[in-house]
Amino acid sequence: MEEKERTHKLTTASGIPYTQHENSKTVGPRGPILLEDFILHEKLAHFNRERVPERVVHAKGSGAYGKFTVTHDITQYTRAKIFNQIGKETPLFLRFSTVGGENGSADTERDPRGFAIKFYTEDGNWDLVGNNTPVFFIKDPKKFPDFIHTQKRDPRTHTKSATMMWDFWSLNPESLHQVMILMSDRGTPYGYRHMHGFGSHTFSFINAENERYYVKFHFKTLQGVKNFTDAEAAAMKGQDPDFAQRDLVEAIDRGDFPQWALKIQVMTEAQAKTYKWNPFDLTKVWSQKDFPLLDVGILELNRVPNNYFADVEQSAFAPAHVVDGVGYSPDRMLQGRLLAYPDAHRYRIGANYEQLPVNRCPYAVNNYQRDGAMRYDGNGGSKPNYFPNSFDNIYPDEQYQEPAQDLENSIAGWFDRNGENENDHYTQPGDLFRLMTPDEQKATIRNIIGSMSGITGEKRALIINRQLCHFFRADMSLGIGVAMGLGINVESQMMQHAISGN
Ligand code: HEM
Repeated sequence: MEEKERTHKLTTASGIPYTQHENSKTVGPRGPILLEDFILHEKLAHFNRERVPERVVHAKGSGAYGKFTVTHDITQYTRAKIFNQIGKETPLFLRFSTVGGENGSADTERDPRGFAIKFYTEDGNWDLVGNNTPVFFIKDPKKFPDFIHTQKRDPRTHTKSATMMWDFWSLNPESLHQVMILMSDRGTPYGYRHMHGFGSHTFSFINAENERYYVKFHFKTLQGVKNFTDAEAAAMKGQDPDFAQRDLVEAIDRGDFPQWALKIQVMTEAQAKTYKWNPFDLTKVWSQKDFPLLDVGILELNRVPNNYFADVEQSAFAPAHVVDGVGYSPDRMLQGRLLAYPDAHRYRIGANYEQLPVNRCPYAVNNYQRDGAMRYDGNGGSKPNYFPNSFDNIYPDEQYQEPAQDLENSIAGWFDRNGENENDHYTQPGDLFRLMTPDEQKATIRNIIGSMSGITGEKRALIINRQLCHFFRADMSLGIGVAMGLGINVESQMMQHAISGN
């Protein structure tokens, strides 16, 4: 065997050289192991702790580093430094994911895909934590845990349950738009490179004059949209459950860097007040006829992290983390997410998760947060740990202040998310269906039938009928197609539909 050069001593985590790496210390060659072999304890104990809790959602994912390059001037809308010059490049990290499955689940499950970007900007890290869909299933964050429970495992059978899913969707008609996208072949994208990404929520842009605009972010894949059919996706689960991870790593490793064109839709504050749709409703899109896409720049992924756990598993994104020139909107879902993510990170990877290399801001971080588990950046040394003080020169910069926002209402209360003027759940999903080619319509209907056929139990008929009403209201031919596929008597279904006035 070839002799290796001996340059680095093998040591314990505390730097003590090992004498033995492969044999435990025993009493005689066949006797028991001695407690004093602390290297054995260290190895076994560290191994026991190799896993951090997986993300409660979006547990299975893939990530890569890259850059964003500005190609068009949008400084009239935003003063964000990332956009302040054509040609400017900003480093970034992007993590893709599926939503409902566990860390070891198959990449080709029918599911939305996460599209979470961390831009390392001079004004701090900007996290745009979106999906491959412009809308979502719900429009109030209070519903999120209930919704996710229906996407995970049944509490008794511990299997995925079409009954839970369709029960929830049929009881929450605002989900229909996202359900239509999920049930089309876009619900099973061909890996991560061939799908679009969206910021999904409405955000604010704030320009140098301190004027606010509302904005939606679209990342258009330059690889072209490509999807699996339902049958192909199912076959791929057995053939290569890590298809999307392998596809991404292999493409980047061979120098075939995937790219997306960032485009935006912009709405003024005045337009937001009168637009026919609530512009802050995450179950709705803004028509591109009303608000055309504007070009901004190119996002490219060009480097796979050397260590998956260090960078992909430990990455942590938070919709709350916007930078100067970008702001929130009153979208209830966005507001709920502002709270949820940093809380999840503190639980999953600890209070000091922002110090981990993938999450660390490469520019200045100055504050008075101290201590906590796993603090390893020097903890502020001997510098003051309180504010104000007479010793350091750290100050809050008022230039970063956003303009005040006119919220038009000062009455606090529980307003029905689907109340008057918020209850058209059918026009946009119907339009989406009518925009599809005949083949896409057929595939969508087939996928819905396949999924709804899995509904079981005593409430089966109730759930199916309730959901069929939603499909009929969106588009008659969609309703008929699904009903026929499920073997339902369409005439009696339509009669019921007419009687109930739905
Ligand atoms: C109120 C609704 C929502 C809540 C409470 C919520 C909560 C969470 C939580 C707790 C995580 C795990 C974070 C972690 O452990 O690192 C997560 C991950 C994620 N969520 Fe949400 N979520 C919501 C809605 C959404 C929406 C609407 C989108 C997309 C438009 C989205 C996209 C993502 C993505 C992409 C990830 C994975 C981020 C990563 O790659 O680490 N979520 N969400």
